[in-house]
Order: sequence, then C-alpha cells, then structure tokens
Amino acid sequence: MNRTLANQNVPAVGLGCMGMSEFYGETDDTQSLATLHAALELGYRHFDTSDMYGRGHNEELLGKFVKQLGSRRDEILLATKFGIYRDPSDKYNLLIDGSRAYVKKACEASLKRLNTDCIDLYYVHRRDPNTPIEETVGALAELVQEGKIKAIGLSEVSVETLRKAHAVHPIAALQSEYSLWSRDLEAHCLPALEELNIALVAYSPLGRGFLTGAITKEHIEQASAESDFRAKLPRFQGDNLDANLQLVKALEQLSAELNCTPAQLALSWLLDQYENLHVIPGTKRVKYLAGNFEAQHIQLDAAASAMLGKIFDPQAIAGKRYPDAILKGTNI
Ligand SMILES: NC(=O)c1ccc[n+]([C@@H]2O[C@H](COP(=O)([O-])OP(=O)(O)OC[C@H]3O[C@@H](n4cnc5c(N)ncnc54)[C@H](OP(=O)(O)O)[C@@H]3O)[C@@H](O)[C@H]2O)c1
Repeated sequence: MNRTLANQNVPAVGLGCMGMSEFYGETDDTQSLATLHAALELGYRHFDTSDMYGRGHNEELLGKFVKQLGSRRDEILLATKFGIYRDPSDKYNLLIDGSRAYVKKACEASLKRLNTDCIDLYYVHRRDPNTPIEETVGALAELVQEGKIKAIGLSEVSVETLRKAHAVHPIAALQSEYSLWSRDLEAHCLPALEELNIALVAYSPLGRGFLTGAITKEHIEQASAESDFRAKLPRFQGDNLDANLQLVKALEQLSAELNCTPAQLALSWLLDQYENLHVIPGTKRVKYLAGNFEAQHIQLDAAASAMLGKIFDPQAIAGKRYPDAILKGTNI
C-alpha cells in the first residue's frame, strides 16, 4: 500500500532508525547496517532519523548506508530532524533551538553526516517556544529554495502552530506519537491534517515495543534507565505497567484469532485511522522487518477495529506517555 509523503510515493510502512543508536538497549552498527539493507530489499523506502539520536550517530549510520547505496540513493525517502540538542550533563534534558541561524547550521551538519546533498523531508523536531514558528519555517523555506531540503515537516506541535507554519510554507508532514495507546491527536489534529492535506507520520506506532507483546515486567525491571529510555516512562512503571499489560493480553488474544501478530494488528489499526497516515515502526533487527512491513496488507474488518478502539480506550491507559518535563515541550 503506497501513500504520498513529501511528494514521493512510498509504502505506508517506513523504518524508524532511532533504536539503532540509543534509547532501547544495546546497539550494534554491523547489525544495524544489515537491517537497513534488508529493509531496502524487502521494499521499505522511507527511513526516519534525527540529528539528536545518538548525538549524530544515527545520521552517520544512515550516511554509511547512503554511501553504500551509491546510485540507489534516490530510491529512498530520507527524513531527518533538527532542533533538539542535548544537555551534556543529562542526556534526557532536551534543549531546543529553532532560530534561523541554528536551522542553517543544523542542516549543513546533517547533510554532511548523511552523505547526501539534499534531505527529502526535514522536520522541526520540537518547536522552540522562544522563537516564532514563522522564523523557523521561513529559514526552512530558504533551504528548500537553495535545494538543500525537499520538504518541511513538524513534530509534536499544536494545531495552531501547524496552521501558522503552513501559512509560511506548505508543510508536508506532521510527525507525532500515535498508536493504540497514544491517541491524544485524534480529536483535534486529525481533522486539521485532513483539511490542510498534510500527511501524518505516526511515531512509536508499536508503543515503543509494548504493543508487540514482547515487553515483560522483568524486561523493564532489568533495564537500566541509562540505556533503556522506557524505564523512565510512567506507562512502563509499577502499577501502570501491570494495568497496561492486561490490555496487551487482550491485543494478543485478538491477534491470535485474526491469525496475525500483535504488532501487525497495532500497525494495521493505525493505518486505517487516516488516509494519508504513515507508520515508522522502529527496529534494529532484521527479524522484525518483514512482519512489520506486511501489516500494510492486512485488512481489518470494522468489528475488529472497533474492538481494538474499545480495548485501548484512552481512559484505560495507565500513566502518561512521557514524564512531565518532556510533555511540556509537546503540543505547543
Ligand atoms: N518525532 C519524535 O519525537 C520521535 C520520538 C520517538 C521516535 N521517533 C521515530 O519513530 C520511530 C519508531 O518509534 P520507536 O522506535 O520509538 O517505537 P516503536 O516503533 O513503537 O517500537 C520500537 C520497539 O519495538 C520493537 N519491535 C519492533 N518491531 C517488533 C516486532 N515485530 N516484535 C517485537 N518487537 C518489535 C523494537 O525492538 P528492537 O529494539 O529489539 O529492534 C523496539 O524496541 C523511531 O525509530 C524514530 O525514528 C520520533
């Protein structure tokens, strides 16, 4: 199933590359590069990264992949993001800069790390509350004019910001967290995206792995907050985790009845929520690629879709999706 993104026709399932550098435990570059190549061979075309993942490491990894692709570079849609830089003393303290000067500097650095002369989709990773969005998007529009980026995206912004940005330059995509257990954007954002004809790229579509059924209590208890970000998230802690695991049990049961995996069910449900929605399940492993990609061909009937919506009623989810310190930088 192909859909349009940044003027390209790509499969609706893309690949999230973040975990190849940090956030979800150990990483291995050789394994990650093999995963990138296997994804391309399976038909993946949309690859998502950011300059902040691994403090440049993730873009450098993608840059190696791009170099190895040679003339096949144009077969892929390379999406990256800028705007967050890391506090050297606390890796989860996110510092934000959306000034014109920073936009230009960040883009040059990303182009270099990615080994490319043009980024297909360049996102504002988080809105800078101290810089008017018009300034940030104005600078991005200059980059489009200069041929350094092809399209502009925003991540985790409010509808109001989206409208202001779109008035400066057409916005190709909004990338925000959306999955069965993170449905905040349904009420206001989806109608605005449809009205403005903007694609939605749903990040963490597998609930950071939770909706696959592969995350256990033991896994989280053993995970160090330093190497596995999930240990820092309210939904993965204590009683919240116990309550949320009950929902995953119901998801597993339904997927067994429908003869697919919980991950496929979670992705397929999402793809039905908006006609120009793309999912970017993340993995560093070849073994998950094919099943996740296949989710775009699974047809959910209305009854199954409604049942999933009911199991994952937002009121039933225990805990916030991020700690408050990070949440305050979203939906602004
Ligand atoms: N814009 C933003 O602010 C933002 C924020 C977060 C993420 N993102 C983007 O969105 C992408 C996806 O989100 P995400 O990586 O956070 O979460 P996700 O896609 O919901 O889940 C990723 C986790 O699920 C596991 N997994 C994937 N497929 C699986 C399967 N079939 N069975 C069992 N486990 C499976 C992965 O395992 P392994 O780790 O073992 O591979 C990984 O730990 C990221 O890679 C990144 O590009 C953007």
